[in-house]
Amino acid sequence: QTAKLAATPPMGWNSWNWFAGKVTDKDVRQAADLLVSSGMRDAGYVYVNIDDTWEGKRDSTGVLHTNEKFPDMKALADYVHSKGLKLGIYSSPGSQTCARFEGSFGHEQQDADLYASWGIDYLKYDLCSFHNGNMRVTAPGDSAEAMTIQYKMMHDAYARMHQALLKTGRPIVYSLCQYGFDSVWQWGPEVGANLWRTTDDVNATFNSIALIGRDQAGLSRYAGPGHWNDPDMLEVGNGKLTLDENRTHMGLWSMLAAPLLAGNNLSELTPEITAILTNREILAIDQDKLGHQADRIYAEGPIEIWARPLADGSRALAIFNFGEQRSYLRGISLHLREAGAADGWHARDIWAAKDLGPITDKMPLTIPRHGSIVLRLTH
Ligand code: GLA
Repeated sequence: QTAKLAATPPMGWNSWNWFAGKVTDKDVRQAADLLVSSGMRDAGYVYVNIDDTWEGKRDSTGVLHTNEKFPDMKALADYVHSKGLKLGIYSSPGSQTCARFEGSFGHEQQDADLYASWGIDYLKYDLCSFHNGNMRVTAPGDSAEAMTIQYKMMHDAYARMHQALLKTGRPIVYSLCQYGFDSVWQWGPEVGANLWRTTDDVNATFNSIALIGRDQAGLSRYAGPGHWNDPDMLEVGNGKLTLDENRTHMGLWSMLAAPLLAGNNLSELTPEITAILTNREILAIDQDKLGHQADRIYAEGPIEIWARPLADGSRALAIFNFGEQRSYLRGISLHLREAGAADGWHARDIWAAKDLGPITDKMPLTIPRHGSIVLRLTH
């Protein structure tokens, strides 16, 4: 199942970053409509993911029901599917979700069967009540032994839901949300995960985006077709992010082969934001078939260079300026070699949509504050 699913990092939209607990059936239908009309679906954003707060109560047989915001999940799934999109849902391996709705603990198969009967295509499984319910992961002062036990419970709970999903026979992308506990990248594939969160929650500030993005260094070897590191959803178009900041966010996540789940208000998409989210050359990096997440090959103060090989033999090389001042990069040759390229390779500046010709040390590379340059280098 996992080999075919998520062969490239999943792309879509998720309700949390914009709607949080307010999301309704109507919002999800509207998001589906807007993914189509904005061109985002055709650029690859096919998952429409309902996050926390859709859950109601269990009946006497243990079957979970939706709450009043989602009157008919099967009808909603049919609607989303009719638009050429897929529907995602959310739960927790504990007894409660992060927003304190009903979790799946002890009801894994019942819930997986329910999702399959609705036609769900993606599950985000969020650790929350492991902290405050019948299971918790770590607490200050826990002994190493206690932590080992907690980690094993977490591991088993994630494995249980994977088995339950498999048993439904329906391909359902399995997304672990547990903030990177116990180096999830090392055991995620064993519990059938197609992606796993590596960090705490992102928010719509450049500080949060830069912190999370830079923190992904060293994780590339754990990602690949079918199983991806997830530095959390996109905040592109949210908050007060500038054009450069939005591009840096999008470019960095694409270099990282990150799942691209837009989290913005699609009814307020500006042409600028649409252009960033649907830039075909940036998306081609994220979705590259080789699935090789970028490595950080240089870091000096606020300037970082990340590079990744691509399936056609070209290289993607991105220069980021996380600092507060405009900066210049000199001596690109050395970095080209580290990226597996060389002087004289042809450079394409993706955000500028400009061919720069053969790249050399003489090329002026100016990077604005919080900005970046993403190059595709071909031989
Ligand atoms: C956690 C997750 C978020 C979101 C909320 C929902 O904080 O990390 O992405 O799913 O829970 O309650």
